[in-house]
Amino acid sequence: MDDLKSKYLTQIADAADEALLEDIRIAAVGKKGEVALKMRELGKMTPQERQVAGPALNALKDEINSALAAKKAALADAALDARLRSEWLDVTLPTRPQRHGTLHPISQVSEEVTAIFAEMGFSVAEGPRIDTDWYNFDALNIPGHHPARAEMDTFYMHRAEGDNRPPHVLRTHTSPVQIRSMEATGAPTRIICPGGVYRADYDQTHTPMFHQVEGLAIDKDISMANLKWVLEEFVKSYFEVDGVDLRFRASHFPFTEPSAEVDIRCSWEGGTLKVGEGDDWLEILGSGMVHPKVLEAGGIDPNEWQGFAFGMGIDRIAMLKYGVPDLRAFFDSDLRWLRHYGFAALDVPTLHGGLSR
Ligand code: PHE
Repeated sequence: MDDLKSKYLTQIADAADEALLEDIRIAAVGKKGEVALKMRELGKMTPQERQVAGPALNALKDEINSALAAKKAALADAALDARLRSEWLDVTLPTRPQRHGTLHPISQVSEEVTAIFAEMGFSVAEGPRIDTDWYNFDALNIPGHHPARAEMDTFYMHRAEGDNRPPHVLRTHTSPVQIRSMEATGAPTRIICPGGVYRADYDQTHTPMFHQVEGLAIDKDISMANLKWVLEEFVKSYFEVDGVDLRFRASHFPFTEPSAEVDIRCSWEGGTLKVGEGDDWLEILGSGMVHPKVLEAGGIDPNEWQGFAFGMGIDRIAMLKYGVPDLRAFFDSDLRWLRHYGFAALDVPTLHGGLSR
């Protein structure tokens, strides 16, 4: 028994990997291993001999098993150490300037938009991209049967059988954040909310994921005139020009009354998109006076407060400002495109510094 013990403990100590260790285990304490064979001999022994040999064999088996387990753990530790050593990375190495990344135009434009509205006293609010259909629709005066739900080409989240949570959607616009921020801060309020939104739509000016910036201003005496001024100021600052042709078209949204859509004059001539010239119009936003039912849904008394809201396409105004004729290229992750249209990482837009310089 002592021979068996020293033989196997030496083999275990010398085993270089887990496969070898497994071979040793089978030979020693496996069903047909040497210890099992010895156990079988117990039957031929006298009861007195058996009383000594039985417990000794069991003890031997235990000892070999724990030596195996300890060695297995040691091998795993060593493997991890080796891996950590080989995957070591010196984070203090200097960067390689020839390999710099760029800020995506959507990030840059979101910063520009935020800088302009911050100057006018708007703060930034946020909401979830996966929201309940109550925030995305009902609270915005779009009940279940309303055609606007179908028009929006909504992506619904999958629901398992028996799931009782309210239905969730990928938000189709940033307008649910109107409700969330009314709930959070009440009136008066002045917020914008830039962020991603989703609709099943795909062509030169539509992608299934795109970006909007919501605006909401609520106070005692806010009117369409304030809306028009704010939007005109915004467009002048954003495009860095003294005047741009804007077209306010009477429109309809369930959550505003009255409502207006705003287009901007542009030209697509020669495959490049230019703002402020030509005979084409590109729709950049929807807007209007917040519907009383929407104020109520947000917990604000419509007899006391009123406000305007707008939702503007960030991708659209990015295309216009930086002359990108196809929206789909924004999200193709083509490195050449990103290098061409991207912005230097530290080029943070401010009004005093010049937005895009
Ligand atoms: N949510 C509207 C859309 O996505 C835009 C909008 C926002 C219109 C706020 C009016 C007021 O089309």
